[in-house]
Amino acid sequence: MQEQAADSEPDRASEVQLQGELPAVARTPGRRGRLRYSVSDQRPGPEGSVLREPVAELDAVSRVYQMGGNEVSALEDFSFTFRAGEYWSIMGASGSGKSTLLNLLGCIDRPTRGSYRIRGQEVATLSDDELSEVRSRTLGFVFQSYNLIPQLDVLENILVPLFYQDDPPADGEERARRLAARVGLGDRLEHKPPELSGGQQQRVAIARALVNDPALILADEATGNLDSKTALEILDLFDELHAEGKTILLVTHEPSIGRHAQHTLRLSDGKISEVLHNREEAQA
Ligand SMILES: Nc1ncnc2c1ncn2[C@@H]1O[C@H](COP(=O)(O)OP(=O)(O)OP(=O)(O)O)[C@@H](O)[C@H]1O
Ligand SMILES: [Mg+2]
Repeated sequence: MQEQAADSEPDRASEVQLQGELPAVARTPGRRGRLRYSVSDQRPGPEGSVLREPVAELDAVSRVYQMGGNEVSALEDFSFTFRAGEYWSIMGASGSGKSTLLNLLGCIDRPTRGSYRIRGQEVATLSDDELSEVRSRTLGFVFQSYNLIPQLDVLENILVPLFYQDDPPADGEERARRLAARVGLGDRLEHKPPELSGGQQQRVAIARALVNDPALILADEATGNLDSKTALEILDLFDELHAEGKTILLVTHEPSIGRHAQHTLRLSDGKISEVLHNREEAQA
């Protein structure tokens, strides 16, 4: 357990979020045919599912913000484990703690109390430089506003996460070219963000999130700025990544988008209020 100063704001508070631990035993039919699990039961996985390796483990995590003389408890005693290959949506009312959770999971912020391990490495005690290295090696981020660098072209934007690595891979550019082709932008490598549509910019952002082969992809309202057809194309891309075994956490306000993910974690007042399984695990 750790006590840390809780008065610093995350560098990019609006940019991150997420977390979770698995479900349960009391399995009853939920609305729209989904399966509902008791949140109090913290046993991993639906019955019969295979337990995969933990990617992000939160254990009794709290995040308290200091506001003037008051304390705001944004996450309280939060324990959950996200496992390899899972695709979760994170939902909940405004102020329920989604961004706080994503900031912690994305190593943009640290817990006030409790333990957060990413691929087994404790994050709470890392220095800022170490956190930054964990981010650049382990995480991929996709944001609502794309967050591309307007002066850089598509290829250069995709390469950005590798600039922050101490020892970047030699084949970075080759990887970036492959990823650009993968998201359908192989013929747009020299375009700059202002010369691309919103959907194309988000595709660049997804390619950028993949260039370091992250253990965890964190998406914050990734379809929030897109029309419904383009949003579906982006969701299809997430489906493909999930099918390839990527671990994805997607924060959204939209129930139809939330249901797209394999599982949904619902937050209320900084705690887990519901864990839903929207569809069964694909058979390997
Ligand atoms: N930097 C901060 N300083 C003080 N309080 C904060 C800070 N960031 C968040 N909070 C408070 O923590 C709680 C959770 O906020 P958070 O931003 O995580 O909610 P959210 O679920 O992401 O909401 P939204 O859907 O509106 O984005 C809220 O009560 C919020 O006011
Ligand atoms: Mg938020």
